[in-house]
Amino acid sequence: MKRRDFVRNTALTALGTSVAAPLSALAENAVTHFESEDLAPAGPEPNGFTLNFLALGDWGRNGECLQLETARQMGDWAKNNPINFILSVGDNFYPKGVVSEQDPLWHYSFENVYTAHSLQADWFAILGNHDYYSDPDAQIRYSKISRRWNMPARYYSKEVALGKDKGKVLFLMIDSQAIVQNHEDQHPEKQLAWIDETLKKASADVKWKIVVGHHPTHTAGPRVSNYDTLAIRKALKPLLEKHKVDVYLSGHEHSVQHLKPEGFTHQFISGAGSELTYITPGIEYSKFGASENGFMYFSVDDKRLNVKVVSVSGKILYNTQLSK
Ligand SMILES: [Fe+2]
Ligand SMILES: [Fe+2]
Repeated sequence: MKRRDFVRNTALTALGTSVAAPLSALAENAVTHFESEDLAPAGPEPNGFTLNFLALGDWGRNGECLQLETARQMGDWAKNNPINFILSVGDNFYPKGVVSEQDPLWHYSFENVYTAHSLQADWFAILGNHDYYSDPDAQIRYSKISRRWNMPARYYSKEVALGKDKGKVLFLMIDSQAIVQNHEDQHPEKQLAWIDETLKKASADVKWKIVVGHHPTHTAGPRVSNYDTLAIRKALKPLLEKHKVDVYLSGHEHSVQHLKPEGFTHQFISGAGSELTYITPGIEYSKFGASENGFMYFSVDDKRLNVKVVSVSGKILYNTQLSK
């Protein structure tokens, strides 16, 4: 006898034979014991891709500037669509990063905002310029406190397998602020050498190379040709091209964008986690740009890399696919 039936029968016996018949329907409803199989979550339907992840940047504002609403939409999206992890592309905490791993901003801007069960996945984060105030390394140390927050170092790499004999995706999570501002104590030249070396050493079964840094090399936001954009472009673009990096993903501009400048690498910007800034019209290498709150949803297999831009209201603003 299954435990559920046992509980039900026991309940009926306890009621006594004279009242058992009229109350049997009630007793049926009154049994509250659940088998573990009754509690198994349904989970989202597979979508045909092996790897799926969300990307979001420029978010931590105590829930303000539609951070909270965007977080809720992310939660709904991740409930209905498969995700393996979430990438945070920097400017995690406004206005000036966090002072420690006990800073209350962890609660006001992260834990109590991205509360959905579906968002209790691994977050892989990098630093933005705003995170450089206060104590940037507190965001590394928080990885030891949180189950979901992962920032093992200021820059790091990650390989994700795409299934048996389907190859891998190589992610390089970089610290672009150290490069843009030439923070000598962070040895930007050492980091650039590491980027070069790690991309060079990528094994033959790496199907997709994705570099994630906070500052975009190209943008149709307010920073089309400001110091930050030109500095990271000068330092990074030759490496992205040399090693045929498929995607450079960033934030910093508070909008959602896809750009395809001359060369091999596609630039995506997902910096619309809270406050917004404008899109500059007429940039010839801009393929899509919207000053709307939202996030990006990447779906990858060995031959396809699909990117959807999802707005705060759940509308798909843009959908594009790269192929091999
Ligand atoms: Fe920002
Ligand atoms: Fe920024």
